[in-house]
Amino acid sequence: MKEAFLKACRGIKTDYIPVWFMRQAGRYMPEYQKIRQKYDFLTMCKTPEIAAEVTLQPVKILGVDAAILFSDILIPLEGMGIKIEFIEDKGPQVSPTIRTFSHLKNLREIQLEAVGYVFSAIKILVRELHVPLIGFSASPFTLATYVIEGCSTKEFINTKRFMFSEPAGFHKLMELFTEATLKYLTEQIKAGVHAIQIFDTWAGILSPLDYEIFVKPYVKRIIDGIKSVPVIYFCSNTSGLANHLKELNANVLSIDWRIDIKEAANLFKSYSLQGNLDPLTLLGKEEELFIRVEKILIDGKKAKAHIFNLGHGVNINTKVETLKKLVDFIHEFKFVEV
Ligand code: CP3
Repeated sequence: MKEAFLKACRGIKTDYIPVWFMRQAGRYMPEYQKIRQKYDFLTMCKTPEIAAEVTLQPVKILGVDAAILFSDILIPLEGMGIKIEFIEDKGPQVSPTIRTFSHLKNLREIQLEAVGYVFSAIKILVRELHVPLIGFSASPFTLATYVIEGCSTKEFINTKRFMFSEPAGFHKLMELFTEATLKYLTEQIKAGVHAIQIFDTWAGILSPLDYEIFVKPYVKRIIDGIKSVPVIYFCSNTSGLANHLKELNANVLSIDWRIDIKEAANLFKSYSLQGNLDPLTLLGKEEELFIRVEKILIDGKKAKAHIFNLGHGVNINTKVETLKKLVDFIHEFKFVEV
């Protein structure tokens, strides 16, 4: 098995910089589209052979250093009595919504058998892969935003209304999701994943105080509960939350392009860093792209260890060829010693 990614997760400097991309499997890839024309997204997630095949596509086509399980952060809700749907051009739809303490009765303890297809896909993949497999979940807070809003949103009005009108009820929801997430991730590890990424996509919408009250204790409990594999924590707005993020004790912090990686290396000395190219630079001309990539690689040297990634998922308009060139460029990059 290729070791560079896991070594970097553990804070060990590597001979070359390992690279993978969030949303590396997806609609920008013709090979994905071919399968997607036959099946809807949820069917793909729920059929272990298809989920495994799609997970392998970017490993074979791009030559990335890690695979990420093809699934979605909303999948564990299916094991908790919540219905999820993905509607073309509308994104995810979740029902029933949970917006008050009294709605919590609609949420049941996670039944892992109900999402057994996730663990079956992992078992297929660990037999076939020659690179490490990343399992994942959302953070309890990011998962909660979907259950409260019922769909994607920009303002999070229902989330904040629940949080600020019934804080005890909101904490109860965080408790339930923390327990469920720990069970779900532990089962992924038992099935064979080599690392875990926690997606806290929406934590950056909170003030540092509310992050401290409503997010940090639960994320910390999950990270502390995972001992056997490295944990990557992904969130946006990292500089605003820096003082809290420093105390999370994850192995890797995944940062976006709004923070300079050199500055992040200085702020987060105990972490390996993952990131942090703006995914939309991949839509522009190559000259502009590689200026930015080179700067990230050189500045990334300041981090304990560096895993190259984007600051968010691959955009649907990205050319496969551009991503391939990017992977080769990173693998072949020679640092000039000073
Ligand atoms: O990264 C990977 O390649 C692994 C698979 C993966 C998907 N979603 C596949 C997917 C992962 C790790 C996710 C995480 C996820 N899902 C997040 C957190 C990361 C982030 O993007 O911030 C969130 C917020 C979701 C929820 C979600 N899933 C939304 C909002 C959407 C609709 C947006 C869109 O692009 O259509 C999805 C659908 C989704 N998840 C697709 C894929 C490949 C597109 C499905 C399709 O129509 O083919």
